[in-house]
Formats: sequence, structure tokens, C-alpha cells
Amino acid sequence: MKKEVGLLFVTLGLVALLSGVIFGVIGAFQFVFPEFITTVSFVKIRPLHVSLVVAWIFSCAIGGIYYYMNNCCGTGLWSGKLAKMHFRIFVITGLLILICYFMGKFGGREYWEFPAILSIPIFFSWILFGINYFKSAFNKIGGWPVHMWMWATGIVFFFITFSEAYLWVFPYFRNSLVRDLTVQWKAYGALTGSWNMLVYGTAIFVMTRIKGDEKTAHSKTAFLMYFLGFANLLFGWAHHIYIVPAASWIRTLSYGMSMTELLIFAKMIIEWRSSLEEAKKDFHIIPYKFIVASDVWIFLNLGLALAISVPAVNIYSHGTHVTVAHSMGSTIGINTMILLASAFFLISDITKSDFSAAQKKQISLGFWLFNLFFTVFWCCLIIAGIQKGILTVEDKLSFQEVMTKIQPVLTIFAFCGIGVLAGLTLVVSPLLLSAYRYFKS
Ligand code: HEM
Repeated sequence: MKKEVGLLFVTLGLVALLSGVIFGVIGAFQFVFPEFITTVSFVKIRPLHVSLVVAWIFSCAIGGIYYYMNNCCGTGLWSGKLAKMHFRIFVITGLLILICYFMGKFGGREYWEFPAILSIPIFFSWILFGINYFKSAFNKIGGWPVHMWMWATGIVFFFITFSEAYLWVFPYFRNSLVRDLTVQWKAYGALTGSWNMLVYGTAIFVMTRIKGDEKTAHSKTAFLMYFLGFANLLFGWAHHIYIVPAASWIRTLSYGMSMTELLIFAKMIIEWRSSLEEAKKDFHIIPYKFIVASDVWIFLNLGLALAISVPAVNIYSHGTHVTVAHSMGSTIGINTMILLASAFFLISDITKSDFSAAQKKQISLGFWLFNLFFTVFWCCLIIAGIQKGILTVEDKLSFQEVMTKIQPVLTIFAFCGIGVLAGLTLVVSPLLLSAYRYFKS
């Protein structure tokens, strides 16, 4: 029996998630106890954590797209061989990146802190993915549902924005501070927009499959959300560039767009929930739960984004843990919840078997543990950020004094990280076990 390459990506993503979160927990303890695990310093732990969790997001989204295109979208997959080659490049490049981090070899920036040379196989693998996707997608008879448009846009724009993120290698950009900063912030803002296209498209796909019809994916609301997301991808970065001189109306407009996109997405999930029959909810109870959780996190993150956009609040929150709460809030609360829903849907679809009653109990316990600890974790980051802002701006304390004062709340944050890791392990282990059985059979 031919094995599904999509599941290889999802399995790899799940392993990256658990390992990434372990590094996150170590990093959080290093924050509060500087003597904690000194053999691998925070300078290495941070990129190890961030790159692994970003790899989780991409790997699980890509795996879902390969599987859904091959089996569910009426297109088939153009080339299984190309997809396998993509997987091999992904694994080898990933391992090289991890080795570089452990050896302290950096050279890149932000989410891509590895030496720039390693971006070449990533570019190449993305070309393979793009060719395979479009060759498959053009087999579709009739109009594309919105998720196929989202995936197509995410693939093309990841390629463009990833290239932009490397413009600093040219002296023309690197030698001018304002030009360098503007291009870099723009590229990273749009880059997250392009991965959101892959993830939100996946959410809509899973929602339509649970419901049993494609109406949601052809609705006007879905396409409105797509166009807003697309505009947001093109212009939404503008409200992130606070220190670069730019007209304020551009910032306000782009800010308005990103808020509206999330609001429409949240509304779509609420409408989908209320239109679902109880039997379908029960049948797909696990993916359903995770999608509903992502909806709650959309609202919480919207609230935070609204608060930090008020100029009086932004003076205190900018560059503090509040910003980290914003990025972890969306990558964990929204992206990870959606991708876990997709992983559960996909694995049950492939194996055609359900989880045992004990496993279901374990997943449910993990789900609640995860969400409970993550809520406290997220609140701690916000509190630490606000405290830091006030102590720095008003009391004018030194960095060291500030860190001593916020240590108690960061300690709670670090311990909550263990709770998040425990919850995720309970959720992910049955998935890994099913994948293992599938590949062994
Ligand atoms: C699904 C799980 C997770 C995801 C997707 C995730 C994602 C991220 C991202 C994107 C950043 C970069 C933030 C920025 O630059 O603004 C980050 C930083 C960080 N994360 Fe996580 N994270 C996860 C879980 C955890 C856990 C459980 C902990 C443990 C407490 C943790 C601790 C940290 C720390 C200490 C940083 C560095 C913050 C700083 O430098 O100020 N993360 N994470």
C-alpha cells in the first residue's frame, strides 16, 4: 500500500511541536533562573524554540494540503515523487538548521536565524511544492472553493515574502538602515500573512468536511474574508512599522483590515457551529473542539490587539512581553488549535478508525489542561509586559531592576509552560501512535 506523504509531514510537524515546546519551557526557566541549563544558552534556545514551532506550523499545513488535494478536493496529487522529494529536503534542511543552532552558527534574522545559505534548499523545496500544487489544482473541474484559493495565495506569497526577507544580503539594502528596516518588517509582516492563508484555508476545509457540504467554502462571506486576508497580506504589515516614518492613514487602514479579517473569520466559525447538526458534532468531536477553541482565541487576541493599538497603551506595551503574548497568542491559540483539528481529521480519515475510549478521555484531558495553562501563561505575559512598560517608562528603572520586579510573574509563566507541554503531550501522543501504526503496517 502506498503511504500518504501528507501524513509524513504532519507526523514530522507533531514531533517538531513537542520538541519546540520543550525548548520554550527551558528558555522560560532561563529567563527566571539564569543558571538553569547553562550548557545551551538562551541565545541558542530561543531560535531553537521559534524555528521548531514555525516548522510545526508549516509542516502540518503542507501535509494537510498534500493529503486533502490527493484525496478530498477532486484534483488528485500531480506527483507523489515530487512531494516525497520535498519531504526529504525539509528534513535534511531542518536537521542542518538545528545543528547550526547548537553549534552557535547564526547569520540570519528573526524567524530565520540560521546561516543564509540554508535558505537555498528552502526556496527550492517551495518551488517543488508550488509546481505540484498548481499542476494538481488545475485538474479541478468547476470553480475553486475558497480554501484552494487561500492555499494557492499562501504558496505564491510565501515564496515572494521569503525572498524579500533575504534582500538584506544585498549591500543596497543592508547599508541603509531605514531601507533595511522597512523591507525587513514588511517582509515578516507579509510572511505571517502568507502562512495564515495556509492555516485559515485548512480551517475552512476541515469545517466544510465536518459539515458535509462545500457551501461554506463558496459563500460570499468566505470570499470576503479571503479578499480581506489577501489585502492584509499585501498591506497589513504597515501597522507594525512604528519606527519607520509612514503616513498614519496607511497604518490605520492596514490595522482596520487585519482586525476585520479576524472578525469575519470568528463570525464564520460561529455560524458554522450553529448550522451543524448534533450528530456531526458528535462524530467529529475532537476536530470540532479544537476549531471552537481557536474561535475563542481569535476573540482574545482581537481584544489584545485592540488594546495595544491605543497609542496611550502602546507607549507602555511596545517591545515588551505584551508583544510576545500577541505573537504566541496567535501562533498557539489560533494556528496550533486549527492545525491540531486538521491533524485529528486527517489521521482519522487515513486510518479509517476511531480513537479508543481511553484515548479520547486522554485527549479531552489534554485539551482542557492545555487551554487552562495557556490562558494563565498568556495573562502572565501581558501582566509582565505592562509591569515592564510602567517600570521603564514612568519609574525609569534599569533593565536589571525591571527584570527583578517582574520575576514572580515570569516564574508563574514558566511553570504554566510545563502545564502547556503536559497538555500538548496528552493530545499529541495518540496522534503519533496512530501515525506510527499506519507507517508500520
Ligand atoms: C505551540 C506552542 C508554541 C508556539 C507556537 C510558540 C511560538 C513562539 C513564537 C512565535 C515566539 C517568538 C515571539 C516573538 O518574537 O515575538 C516565541 C517566543 C518564546 N516562547 Fe513560545 N511558543 C509556544 C510554546 C511555548 C511554551 C510552552 C513556552 C514555555 C513557557 C514558550 C516560551 C517562549 C519563550 C521564553 C520565548 C522567548 C520570548 C522572548 O524572547 O521574550 N513558548 N514562542
